[in-house]
Amino acid sequence: MHIVIGSDHGGYRLKEVVKEYLLYLTIPFEDMGAHSQESCDYPDIAKLVAEKIISGEYLRGILICGSGIGMSIAANRFPGIRAAVCNDLFSAQMSRKHNDSNILTMGERFIGDGLAMEIISVWLNTPFEGGRHMRRITMIDSMLTRS
Ligand code: RB5
Repeated sequence: MHIVIGSDHGGYRLKEVVKEYLLYLTIPFEDMGAHSQESCDYPDIAKLVAEKIISGEYLRGILICGSGIGMSIAANRFPGIRAAVCNDLFSAQMSRKHNDSNILTMGERFIGDGLAMEIISVWLNTPFEGGRHMRRITMIDSMLTRS
């Protein structure tokens, strides 16, 4: 699986750790920035990552900011994006099983490096359960197109 990743300044340090972890896992990735800890706006990076997924270039992405919250709010503005804030393992598992999350967001100010790597491992390896959960995702998608 190939992954697209991004962060703002608040998630930059953890993103660099995540890149090392993805290299260790031999998972290819593209980094959409930020490229330093200089202050930047998380919606810009969320947009870049969301567009890469919507275009089909990547199936899954990881976004990191201070809390994970801003990135998820911004990414979820894009139809077809299911971004989930997962600062714990159970959220990571459930966001895959029931919500087929295609973007994982995390907060550098909330979690340590070790937990972030565990969250990524669970998120990458937990399959979507489909069935009734697929019906609910279809309902969400139809809300986006109906407005
Ligand atoms: C930046 O200070 C911070 O607001 C941002 O990283 C994120 O936590 C927003 O939700």
